[in-house]
Amino acid sequence: MAAMYEARVLSGMRPTGRLHLGHYHGVLKNWVRLQAEYTCLFFVADWHALTTDYAEPGAIQQNTWDMVIDWLAAGVDPGQAILFIQSQVPEHAELHLLLSMMTPLGWLERVPTYKDQQEKLADKDLSTYGFLGYPLLQSADILIYRSKFVPVGEDQVPHVEFTRETARRFNHLYGREPGFEEKAKAAVKKMGTKKARLLNELRTKFLEQGDAESLARAQALLDDQQNLSRGDRERLYGWLDGGGKKILVEPEVLLTEASRMPGLDGQKMSKSYGNTIALREDPESVARKVRTMPTDPARVKRTDPGTPEKCPVWALHLVYSDEARKEWVQQGCTTAGIGCLECKQPIIDAIQAELAPMRERAQAYIDDPTLVKNIVADGCEKARRLAEETMRDVREAMGLTHT
Ligand code: TRP
Ligand code: SF4
Repeated sequence: MAAMYEARVLSGMRPTGRLHLGHYHGVLKNWVRLQAEYTCLFFVADWHALTTDYAEPGAIQQNTWDMVIDWLAAGVDPGQAILFIQSQVPEHAELHLLLSMMTPLGWLERVPTYKDQQEKLADKDLSTYGFLGYPLLQSADILIYRSKFVPVGEDQVPHVEFTRETARRFNHLYGREPGFEEKAKAAVKKMGTKKARLLNELRTKFLEQGDAESLARAQALLDDQQNLSRGDRERLYGWLDGGGKKILVEPEVLLTEASRMPGLDGQKMSKSYGNTIALREDPESVARKVRTMPTDPARVKRTDPGTPEKCPVWALHLVYSDEARKEWVQQGCTTAGIGCLECKQPIIDAIQAELAPMRERAQAYIDDPTLVKNIVADGCEKARRLAEETMRDVREAMGLTHT
């Protein structure tokens, strides 16, 4: 069934407001690359923001528009990708609700981000129903588009893994055709008692614990079995991974490499460290921020030599400079041949050159906000149409077509 759909890529971001160079180098450049190759859906996860910010939701709206403008500024192209806001596609909520019927509580409690985030955000009361359901809402986001790939960072991998298990369980419960189970069981019997028992054990281990190796061993067992008809073999393949009809598609992670973007102080660039350069930072501020960056503390006087590896400016040269310029820094710094301001100038120039076209694109949207609203309205409409297709199958499979 999956082959009937073109490969779709889906990713979401919580609305955190204005984005910075860390987001650009870590995430957005990747989105821009993907949008040319796949049908991409990128959305603002405003409901996910509410799971932690329900007590003060005031900033979500402004943050949403600021973030979408930054996506567009960075080169996300509404002519290629579908941009939308989660809450404007209420089908996500319907699928979340329906999935919640069959999701064991233990699965949610075991997701590592659940306790981690509760501890990290200890000032908020996150012992809520909505927060526990965070990964399931994310599963609904992904599954409703039958997404094949989900580009996310390391921290989100457990959520995609959880989504795969959810899809598998759903297909297992609701994807069976009439008589499928009986036919599958009859086929297993043809394998002989011993092998049939082993196959059942491996299958159970995979379905209950998600143990991929057990699935691989079970499939190998089928491959070795000579006396199975082609039809039985295909049936058993579907039956092994809990299948039958694949109503929901198991997505795969497209791992986004951790952003190599260092901040102004050498730590990872992050709003919480206050070491960022925003995509819409004005040029004077960019220059000032780089000029006042700390350098190797050994260079007290201009004549003191330094070590680039001990300097956050060097980390930026690794992002922005070619070999020749890096050599110039190494040589100049270690011999006190160049001053730190001199060393910083090419970084300032590179960032200005990177941000200038973004600033320009953003300005058009700031001047005329209806442009952004129209892009998002159009994206929501397209997304809804795709979501509706999946929901028709889901409702039917769960016995909810009352006509
Ligand atoms: N949880 C993701 C994050 O914090 C945001 C998100 C919500 C998401 N739904 C998604 C990402 C679906 C990918 C796919 O970054
Ligand atoms: Fe850092 Fe460059 Fe100064 Fe060396 S010369 S300490 S690398 S800013």
